[in-house]
This record gives sequence, structure tokens and C-alpha cells, in this order.
Amino acid sequence: MDPNSSKNIHPTFEKIIGREEKEHFLKQKSKVLWLTGLSGSGKSTIAQLLEKELVRKGFFTVALDGDNIRSGINNNLGFSIEDRQENIRRIAEVAKLFLDNGVIAICSFISPTIKIRNFAKQIIGKNDFIEIYINAPLNICEKRDIKGLYKKARNGEIKNFTGISSPYETPQNPAIEIRTDKRSIKESVYLILEKITPLVIQPKTKNQKPKTS
Ligand code: ADX
Repeated sequence: MDPNSSKNIHPTFEKIIGREEKEHFLKQKSKVLWLTGLSGSGKSTIAQLLEKELVRKGFFTVALDGDNIRSGINNNLGFSIEDRQENIRRIAEVAKLFLDNGVIAICSFISPTIKIRNFAKQIIGKNDFIEIYINAPLNICEKRDIKGLYKKARNGEIKNFTGISSPYETPQNPAIEIRTDKRSIKESVYLILEKITPLVIQPKTKNQKPKTS
């Protein structure tokens, strides 16, 4: 890439309708809910039900998920640390676009290292990046092996597999931590909703009904 190419780019953010106006229109506060955890920990299942519940309550959301994003916009990326970092960079930029347009973005990606998650946090902004650690011990994820990938990783058919031949660094200070080996999916989603609803709810104005149930 030409290192000077960005010099010829002139973004016009000040001319577009701002985030606050969009949030007001959607009657919500936008946030990025960032689910991190091992493959098979329950991220996607939780994200799906979480989105359903938020929409049922009248919130407007978008769900970005590892396997989906990797079959489209990021289908040229693999699982080296560099590719994972680029994967997360693009996703964080996309999530930021939704955030700036008033939408609640639910992102479920392994995002395995502290550095990678910090990178996402930096792009999104620390006040809007809500880190949710979907925690299930490796042996449980491996036992579940929903996609059969752990078996392949153990056999050496898949290289750089998170937890087996590539690291997963535990989040140090997540906003929320859910042990999916100890709680049902429904319970997990309920716990997340309890914590995040106050963050995404638009403060009540005179003529506006709040979204509560
Ligand atoms: S991340 O590390 O870059 O954040 P991401 O969440 O996008 O990963 O993709 C993870 C999904 O890709 C897993 O759920 C799994 O289905 C699939 N996958 C394929 N190969 C690997 C691998 N080597 N490591 C982890 N996941 C893999």
C-alpha cells in the first residue's frame, strides 16, 4: 500500500448526521458488546439469544460473528496472530461504524490475546467497548467439540488452533464474566441483559416511554 495514500483522504464526519441524533431516533444508547472466549465456549449461541432478547425489548442491534465474518469480508484471513489481528481490526472498524450510527453491535470473536482485544478497544473507544468473557474451561470446550475442530487440532489437521496450538489469554478485567459450564444459555443471557440494559437504555424524556420489558 502506498504509505502516502491516506494523505489524500478527506473524511467529512462533521457533515453527516451524528451519533446522538441516530441514538435519539432509535431510542437507545449504542454500545459494542464484545464477547471473547474459546471456540465452543458458547459465544455465538449466547450472542444469538442476546440479540433476540434485545430486539424483543425494542432495541436495534447488529450481530457480527467469527464464522460469518470469516466467510465474507474476512475470507482472505487465516489464523496466524497477524491475521487474527487484522481480522479483529476490520471487525472493530465495522463495529465502530455501527456504534457511530446508534446501533448496538454484538461481536462474538475468539479475539485470543490481550493485545488484540486492547486494539479493538482502542478503535471502538474504552467507554463503548463492553468486554464480556464467555468462560468455559478448555477441557469442557474440547468435550463439547460441536464443530469437530478440537479433534482435528489434536490430530494436527488444523494448525494454530486456539487453546491447543495457539494461545488464549484470559481477560484481566472484563465488564462481565459468564461461566457457561456452570450456567444455562438462558441464565447467561439474563445475566448479561441485567448488566447491559442500563447502558443501552435512553434516559427517559417527558414524552417518551422507556424500553423496559
Ligand atoms: S479470532 O481468533 O480471529 O478472533 P474468530 O472468532 O474470527 O477467531 O474465528 C474463530 C472460528 O473459526 C472458530 O469458532 C472456529 O469455528 C474457526 N476456526 C478455524 N480454524 C481455527 C483455528 N486455527 N483457531 C481457532 N478457530 C478456528
